[in-house]
Amino acid sequence: MSTPETTHESMHVDPAERAWIRTSIVVLVVFAISVTIAGFMLGIQVPTTEQRVNPQTIQDAPPWSEPGVREIVAGEQYEVYVVAKRFFFEPNAIELPAGAEVTFYVTSTDVQHGFSIRDTNVNFMVIPGEVSKLTTTFDEPGDYPYICTEYCGLGHAVMFGSVTVTP
Ligand code: CUA
Repeated sequence: MSTPETTHESMHVDPAERAWIRTSIVVLVVFAISVTIAGFMLGIQVPTTEQRVNPQTIQDAPPWSEPGVREIVAGEQYEVYVVAKRFFFEPNAIELPAGAEVTFYVTSTDVQHGFSIRDTNVNFMVIPGEVSKLTTTFDEPGDYPYICTEYCGLGHAVMFGSVTVTP
């Protein structure tokens, strides 16, 4: 049987060890704050699964029967629907105005693909049966190529398109 005294003794923490425990906690807190700040300032988002869908029938009805750009508020807010297939994107050319808030909805009708737009935070997997969603803003006019980033078959390397951002 241990007395309260011996229990206390067994809990003894060396001052140096205590200092390192505190240092570890401080480092973890600093990391957590850094990741939070970086996430918000750089617009990093965790791509969300917006919706579960049937990949066989998804293109039977709008908006997926006519993928492309939907204007919500002219010059300010847009939605873009993109279908990934072996081995192309529908559409493979997108035009958007600079500075607008753009939400991409992307799905696949066959196998797993990827969707990554150069120089943006848009980069996620495209899975048949799910709609992936991510919002971004193109601040500078120019061409922003997008590519498939998941190996999806022999034509993977030719699976790409381009966003043209106008002033
Ligand atoms: Cu589609 Cu790689």
